[in-house]
Amino acid sequence: MAVVPASLSGQDVGSFAYLTIKDRIPQILTKVIDTLHRHKSEFFEKHGEEGVEAEKKAISLLSKLRNELQTDKPIIPLVEKFVDTDIWNQYLEYQQSLLNESDGKSRWFYSPWLFVECYMYRRIHEAIIQSPPIDYFDVFKESKEQNFYESQESVIALCTHLQQLIKTIEDLNENQLKDEFFKLLQISLWGNKCDLSLSGGESSSQETDVLDSLEDLKPFILLNDMEHLWSLLSNCKKTREKASVTRVYIVLDNSGFELVTDLILANFLLSSELATEVHFYGKTIPWFVSDTTIHDFNWLVEQVKHGNHKWMSKCGADWEEYVEMGKWVYHDHIFWTLPHEYCAMSQVAPDLYAELQKAHLILFKGDLNYRKLTGDRKWEFSVPFHQALNGFHPAPLCTIRTLKAEIQVGLKPGQGEQLMASEPCWWTSGKYGIFQYDGPL
Ligand code: F6P
Ligand code: MG
Repeated sequence: MAVVPASLSGQDVGSFAYLTIKDRIPQILTKVIDTLHRHKSEFFEKHGEEGVEAEKKAISLLSKLRNELQTDKPIIPLVEKFVDTDIWNQYLEYQQSLLNESDGKSRWFYSPWLFVECYMYRRIHEAIIQSPPIDYFDVFKESKEQNFYESQESVIALCTHLQQLIKTIEDLNENQLKDEFFKLLQISLWGNKCDLSLSGGESSSQETDVLDSLEDLKPFILLNDMEHLWSLLSNCKKTREKASVTRVYIVLDNSGFELVTDLILANFLLSSELATEVHFYGKTIPWFVSDTTIHDFNWLVEQVKHGNHKWMSKCGADWEEYVEMGKWVYHDHIFWTLPHEYCAMSQVAPDLYAELQKAHLILFKGDLNYRKLTGDRKWEFSVPFHQALNGFHPAPLCTIRTLKAEIQVGLKPGQGEQLMASEPCWWTSGKYGIFQYDGPL
């Protein structure tokens, strides 16, 4: 096995991982508890006393979880039977086997950050499924919906832009088409600023017209492999035989405004014939506050379809049709809500790995995907991306991510150190973004 650096963890006092475990995660848990409280009367209306009892149970399980975390108690196995319970518990055992400490127990601040953070969201889910009849409840649904509503103006601007573009798309020459592709890629990148876990679930919507800001934001793109994406897809388009396919897969991140930007990009991929099918991968359970589930996906398409603006509703109607026609395919897989690094996918979820191998290009959206791609490890800044992927090469892939965790590879020698000296929060504030490609050139 290749030698890999240590995992990021809360052991490093003052690090972003440490602050996340110490402050951000408890804040998120408190917000989840508040949300359940606020829905008490709704649970009563729907399920009577049983609903109220269930709400109390979920709250007590979550309060216990918050206490375990704040007092750095050992991480305990999951108890409620669910599709992934055994895999989680095996992973916990594996983490424990890596410890040299005498009691051999994984603890919140001493285990890999990626593991404990994923575990926290999985325990929230456990508290909910242990509390029927409210076991269907998505504790983050409200904030995801709010993010969408607050971004209305930008959504309308993007839908209008796309529909105008489609009208003349056949008249565009290669360079013009490429420019438009790059614009929509950048919109999808900056859409990733709108994740809700960084703000502890507080609103983080898009209120300005992102299209107008693209030029100003360009200096903040630290790595820009957009040209590779263009060469790859325009080449597929040119060489594609009649009736054959070009598949682009998008491993989704956040719902709300970011998802709109991803769907706009996916729509453009079909309209420009750069792709003939787009496959989306979402989460099977509520995850990292704002991540997209199938409910969020369907809800958002429906909202756009019924939006009170003609180009917005046109987009929504087209999107629904793409889904019906199988040009857009939404997939679920439990692997995306496991704590494993992506280099373990071929072992842990060989079916998913085999599916990804069918892609012509895979776009990984967001920060958490980047952490899992690179194993959330303390890589040197200048380590090549290919190396940090540690054997995960199912198909050509590109990560589209704003930086929100202390991890970045593939920089020029000295570049990371320079940023660090001038702007210590450069890699956690979401201000910078990357398009980082791995695949044939
Ligand atoms: O809290 C951990 C974290 O991974 C942050 O690094 C990041 O802010 C967030 O969760 C997830 O971001 P994204 O939605 O871009 O994956
Ligand atoms: Mg997210």
